[in-house]
Amino acid sequence: MSSNGPAQKMTARASGPLKGRADVPGDKSISHRSLILGAMAVGETRIAGLLEGDDVLDTAKAMAAFGAEVEHHGPGEWSVRGVGVGGFGEPEQVIDCGNSGTGVRLIMGAMATSPITATFTGDASLRSRPMGRITDPLGLFGARAFGRDGGRLPMTIVGASDPVPVDYVTPMASAQVKSAVLLAGLNAPGQTVVTERVATRDHTERMLRGFGAEVETERTEDGHRIVLTGQPELKPQTITVPRDPSSAAFPVCAAIVVPGSDVLVPNIGLNPTRAGLFQTLQDMGADLTFENEREEGGEPVADLRARYSPDMKGIDVPPERAASMIDEYPILSVVASFAEGATVMAGVHELRVKESDRIDAMAVGLRACGVTVDETEDSFTVHGMGPGGVPGGALAEARLDHRIAMSFLICGMAANKPVTVDDAGPIATSFPIFEQLMRDLGAQLVRSNG
Ligand code: S3P
Repeated sequence: MSSNGPAQKMTARASGPLKGRADVPGDKSISHRSLILGAMAVGETRIAGLLEGDDVLDTAKAMAAFGAEVEHHGPGEWSVRGVGVGGFGEPEQVIDCGNSGTGVRLIMGAMATSPITATFTGDASLRSRPMGRITDPLGLFGARAFGRDGGRLPMTIVGASDPVPVDYVTPMASAQVKSAVLLAGLNAPGQTVVTERVATRDHTERMLRGFGAEVETERTEDGHRIVLTGQPELKPQTITVPRDPSSAAFPVCAAIVVPGSDVLVPNIGLNPTRAGLFQTLQDMGADLTFENEREEGGEPVADLRARYSPDMKGIDVPPERAASMIDEYPILSVVASFAEGATVMAGVHELRVKESDRIDAMAVGLRACGVTVDETEDSFTVHGMGPGGVPGGALAEARLDHRIAMSFLICGMAANKPVTVDDAGPIATSFPIFEQLMRDLGAQLVRSNG
């Protein structure tokens, strides 16, 4: 079952060549943060290019439940009239964050230092994911959490009525944990400090500065420290959300593996904390170019052009690159299946606690497609079969995970036999126009039922 109804089986067959322009939707991470920071500012924030996927729409509803006025004006155009830092009201209903770890974890952070109580839940995927990584640091501010099964949703957070600032070292490379601490720190007096050993996506820091908060980032011997001065008045902003590099990854990788393809994916956000996949593809020999490189709204942006790349070689992906491409390993493992030689992805244990256990989901599905893979707790190796060498002909389980569903559909576009995913419904969480966009490029995608 998809999160929102009956399962939607979908099949991809040998396709192409894929040609044309792929206008992918707005960045999911920046869309969530635009709504949450807009709700914590005083006055009206205007947002253009918001991702209207289920995950972000759930965050929009949540912000309204905490008291912000959230309005939809047209495609991608939204406004949020915020209630100010510390101004959240107590929601009357359970907050349902659907499939979104980013939504629930950032919102928990944002409300944890206000004297209110809120109960959170989500779909079966989100209810299985660990929340202790968020509630541990929120406890240091004085918030209390009451969850199921040692820290899973449904979970009630009782916000701190007298919050204290926190100095926290994140135990895992996680932008969600870092962001939850920073958002909680907004309503604590004094300085809240987060230290991370590996740099994760820094949209929260950049956007907080844009909204007028004082945020300093210093490099230290073992990573870097982010220092936030609490209790600022956040000033409303006009935001244009860049297009999502994690969504761009799908048409880009499809073009790389489908013979004869040439696809332009314009206006992609290329923040260095997000762009690891594109470097990796180039290291493997992909014909990928960055055109028209520029800066928009404080983020680097370029048009990506990807062409069919029959000479891809497997590589060892450096583990220190993992944070900058964490959501892209599923689609990379598909590309790796069409390369010559082994691609070794190390330092990837965080993949086990995403919307699904992504190592296991890809391992099972790729094996069913005839690809040899090896896994350990922290690594994933794909033994590439070369262009035209992947048999396909499998039914892959999406496991309520949008990126797993899209990855296997791309696999089916270049494999010898069709690949079916049991449920393409979750794709709507991050890339609601995926099916139409890929068809417009020349992909053979058919719904098998429902
Ligand atoms: C996100 C952070 C990452 C990523 C997720 C979005 C964010 O999660 O996987 O899709 O917007 O902060 P982690 O923080 O768990 O690594």
